[in-house]
Amino acid sequence: MFYRPEAGSGLPHNPFKAVVSPRPIGWISTRVGGLGDNLAPYSFFNAVGDSPPLVMFAGDPNDSITNACAAGVFAVNIVEKATWRKMNATSARVARGVDEFVLCGVAKAECTTIDCPRVADAPATLECVLERHLVLPGDNHMVIGRVTGIHLRDDCLRDGRFDVTAYVPVARLGYKDYAFVREVRSLDRPE
Ligand SMILES: Cc1cc2nc3c(=O)[nH]c(=O)nc-3n(C[C@H](O)[C@H](O)[C@H](O)COP(=O)(O)O)c2cc1C
Repeated sequence: MFYRPEAGSGLPHNPFKAVVSPRPIGWISTRVGGLGDNLAPYSFFNAVGDSPPLVMFAGDPNDSITNACAAGVFAVNIVEKATWRKMNATSARVARGVDEFVLCGVAKAECTTIDCPRVADAPATLECVLERHLVLPGDNHMVIGRVTGIHLRDDCLRDGRFDVTAYVPVARLGYKDYAFVREVRSLDRPE
């Protein structure tokens, strides 16, 4: 089949996010003075630069984006199977100012290079300083951050590598679906 997005697919549910999958999940933590701490998942998330390291997340102009723009900093926490359900719980639409760390029982720690909370037990956390805020068609907002500090959980470091088989990474598919990464293969690039 073929369809144009503006005409709709005719399918019971929009297949777009199932097509663009699996997507990594950025579990975004932010802090705004006076309003407290915030935590929410974003699968419109990815790395967009290596040197310097740059990451983005995007979506409705909700608390995470508003806070990241107001504070000028945010943190990206990596999700594993052990925190999968808590991650989902933090996506509940709650009033601005409600701390999802407290609401969902997620242990909190302080970032090192920025004034921002982070998920204490995450396999990894990226501390970020706001680089750009882009307003895209459809009132979609994209935030790009420069990574200023990286936490790697000790048990994920094996033989000098950040070993993603030390935990079970979680990725977002379409609909209500997720993938757990259980199989890793290496491949040399061609000359
Ligand atoms: C796995 C997952 C991924 C999500 N990805 C996005 C996303 O990329 N953009 C978005 O706007 N909302 C996304 N959501 C929904 C937000 O997490 C939800 O609207 C949340 O309430 C936003 O919280 P905030 O207002 O504290 O930022 C996602 C939800 C889940 C469970």
